[in-house]
Amino acid sequence: MSVDVVVGLQWGDEGKGKISYVLSRDAEVVVRFQGGANAGHTVKIGETRYKFNMLPAGCLAGPRPVIAAGCLLDPEAFEKELQLLKTLGHRHKPLISTAAHIVFPLHREADAKLESLRGEAAVGTTRRGIGPAYADKMLRVGIRVGDLLARNSLEKRAAFLQKLHGAELRADLEKLRYLLEPFAGNVPGYLNDVVESGGRVLLEGAQGTLLDIDHGTYPYVTSSNTVAANGFVSTGLPISRKQLIIGVAKAYTTRVGAGPFPTEATGQVADLIRERGGEYGTTTGRPRRIGWLDIPALRYACMINGVDTVAVTKGDVLSSLPTVKACVRYVVDGVETESFGDFLHRLDEVQPVYEEFRGWSMDEAGLRRAVEKGWDELPPNFREYLEWLEKQLRVNISIASVGEEASLTVTRK
Ligand code: IMP
Repeated sequence: MSVDVVVGLQWGDEGKGKISYVLSRDAEVVVRFQGGANAGHTVKIGETRYKFNMLPAGCLAGPRPVIAAGCLLDPEAFEKELQLLKTLGHRHKPLISTAAHIVFPLHREADAKLESLRGEAAVGTTRRGIGPAYADKMLRVGIRVGDLLARNSLEKRAAFLQKLHGAELRADLEKLRYLLEPFAGNVPGYLNDVVESGGRVLLEGAQGTLLDIDHGTYPYVTSSNTVAANGFVSTGLPISRKQLIIGVAKAYTTRVGAGPFPTEATGQVADLIRERGGEYGTTTGRPRRIGWLDIPALRYACMINGVDTVAVTKGDVLSSLPTVKACVRYVVDGVETESFGDFLHRLDEVQPVYEEFRGWSMDEAGLRRAVEKGWDELPPNFREYLEWLEKQLRVNISIASVGEEASLTVTRK
């Protein structure tokens, strides 16, 4: 009887898809609990990359995929991924909460319009209609998956939404009902039954803690709560079911879109990391901004989520760099501080103070050895870096992902 949560500790793109896949192997159900088709979770198995924008990527490992109330259902993305599951012969039918709101083309249009209105202050959204669709949810004018089945009120709701936006919905509601009705259901009832009967449920977060609408670098954030606690709010699972919160962090940092980024690096090293790490947006193809690890930010993310254990990804990308840097504190107004939270509202004023580490090198054969024989076979300098990181975060690191392919994962016994 357990509920585990996988969350990103940075600005998204930490490799949650892969970690969720690895941790989903013995789960009965895996759940997306926030966001919509702005997320891009990739799992590489063998030579094939599977990309998910809507369904939880962990479902590739076998469990039933669920989309909870706190998500925005993007019908196009869902239909595409449904097709993928069919092609793969996945044995479960996805379940979508009747309370999940639907993203319509008018939301995407509003997203693009808002971004161009903001001009230089644009957030750099994925233009998937996320902000406007969540705004309609909060205004209590949105259309939920369940509303498609309530024929008496649907037309009126749709008419009001069009009036409010001054735009056509441009969606065939009858077709949407036909698409979504077979999957719509009572997610809290189902999940609580699974847990009650001894099943394991994994909640797969999207984006990252620093993009959280309340706890992130507002306004350069997404429009939902990305933190672990929202996994319980969104699914209707009580927090007393909580077992493990697994935080995922890259061995460095990336950010896509605008906003402050204290440890941002530019130049040759940043370009090298971007190319080696394939740091281009899964959803939009945009090049990601690159930076060093930021300890104050990570410590803050561990605190907000209540992280029990950390998975560090992409250690291999830094391989062969002579030195690796990590920010240990900031200087603000001439004073040193280890606090991220105190300066969240003026993060663009902080100056990072770095510690340097000797680099490591990982070749294919060494990586395979570490995967087969375990943690102690990881390159000593990399292990030292991880052990140092553990001390800084005061949380143990139990997983090191050392390559894109799903099997390139070292679990600490
Ligand atoms: P939105 O979620 O499309 O509204 O975008 C808001 C901000 O969150 C932008 O900076 C996006 O680049 C960022 N963002 C949204 N989804 C992801 C993601 O899956 N990975 C990384 N950044 C994301």
